[in-house]
Amino acid sequence: MEASKPRIGIIGTGYVGLVSGSCFANLGFQVTCLDIIPEKVERINKADPPIYEKGLKDLLEKVVLQDKLLHATLDRKEAIDNADIIFICLPTPSGADGSINLDFIKNEAIEIGKLLGEVDEYKVIVVKSTVVPGTTSGIVRQLLEEQSGKTAGQDFGLAMNPEFLMEGLAISNFTNPDRVVIGSVDQQSYDFVKRLYSEFNCPILKTSTSAAEMIKYASNSFLATKISFINEIANVCEMLDIDVGEVAEGVGLDDRISPRFLRAGVGFGGSCFPKDVKALYSVSKAVNRESNILKATLATNASQPLRSVELLASLMPLTGKTIALLGLAFKPDTDDMREAPSVIIAEKLIQEGAKVKGYDPIAKETAEIALPQIQHCHSVPEVLEGSDAVILVTEWDEFKNLQPIDLSSVSQKIIIDGRRALNWKEFREAGFIIKVLGQSVP
Ligand code: UDX
Repeated sequence: MEASKPRIGIIGTGYVGLVSGSCFANLGFQVTCLDIIPEKVERINKADPPIYEKGLKDLLEKVVLQDKLLHATLDRKEAIDNADIIFICLPTPSGADGSINLDFIKNEAIEIGKLLGEVDEYKVIVVKSTVVPGTTSGIVRQLLEEQSGKTAGQDFGLAMNPEFLMEGLAISNFTNPDRVVIGSVDQQSYDFVKRLYSEFNCPILKTSTSAAEMIKYASNSFLATKISFINEIANVCEMLDIDVGEVAEGVGLDDRISPRFLRAGVGFGGSCFPKDVKALYSVSKAVNRESNILKATLATNASQPLRSVELLASLMPLTGKTIALLGLAFKPDTDDMREAPSVIIAEKLIQEGAKVKGYDPIAKETAEIALPQIQHCHSVPEVLEGSDAVILVTEWDEFKNLQPIDLSSVSQKIIIDGRRALNWKEFREAGFIIKVLGQSVP
């Protein structure tokens, strides 16, 4: 192995794999990315990102076309042969009972194991996918050893290195993390993986592989719980004529709490929080230590999007009305529709007899797939045209600066601000009825 810069293999060019691979290449590492979808490989090699992430196109142009440090392939052997450290970045989707499906990880461990058996060099396999505690040292280790005829921690390295990337901020999160967690089966695996992060100016935590897996779940579950907590406080504030924004500010100024993840609204969505809380809850039940907190976090989040529909229904009958949704993605700066509150809101509105139109500045193709039952629009004026009322679902910058004049075509002048994003005073002064989640507006 080359002394200064280990070569990296990335298995799976989804969100985590592609961002991590591009950022490692930007740090000067030679990166080979493997995927099974030819179109993705082709696009990556042309520096055309198959996912939307702020800054990723520019980064790919640099590392693929200019520096030639990142290359994608369909050939697993090429990816493994050209790597000293191999990251498994494959999806671990939720099953119906909330537990995660490890089929992709298991199949990959079998394939990597076979190839490991054919090479003489020492390589480190790193699980980056979010997996339940015990997966790396259990099933992954077992399959790698069975297929290769080699021993982890001796003939090859094995580690677990969770990611904490937020969509829309993934590149800066990768470059400036709060911490790097490396769980490993032995010291040598740890030392190898640590070399990738030698330029990072943050704590590097050495743990067992199972603790690393648990850190990822516990972090996401804590943040999700913080959101459900403030949403419950918001619901109480509404009844007591208190603005939850003021409360969150006062609470967040306590250094022990921090102001982040205290924004009340229609609830959390996305690829991680719902899935990870469900998975950890499922683990807690499997080991006979059912988590009441996680159960409540999920229950609160399931009902939170419906608060906006309840508020609207308290102001007007919904049957036969046309409701415009501003924002469809699960959060701003992404086109991701996974577990987006907009889907629950739209379904409920339709169930109540309303017609739904939606507009999202970026999530167009993805929203058309996730929400085929609504009318999709291409601009704010188009979505508002012919609408009776509006629900703001995603706090895109484009919506934050909307003025009453921009919403003048909304026939009943009713707005539900599900993200506390609009200047409600201006709208009220202009004659609108605007209800803001977590605030009782008389
Ligand atoms: C999250 C984690 O933050 C990240 O560490 C992990 O690796 C993946 O999951 P992401 O899903 O990209 O990242 O989004 P994030 O910005 O954390 O927001 C998650 C959801 O919570 C969004 O729906 C967002 O709108 C909601 N949210 C967030 C709130 O409702 N209130 C808040 O205060 C913060």
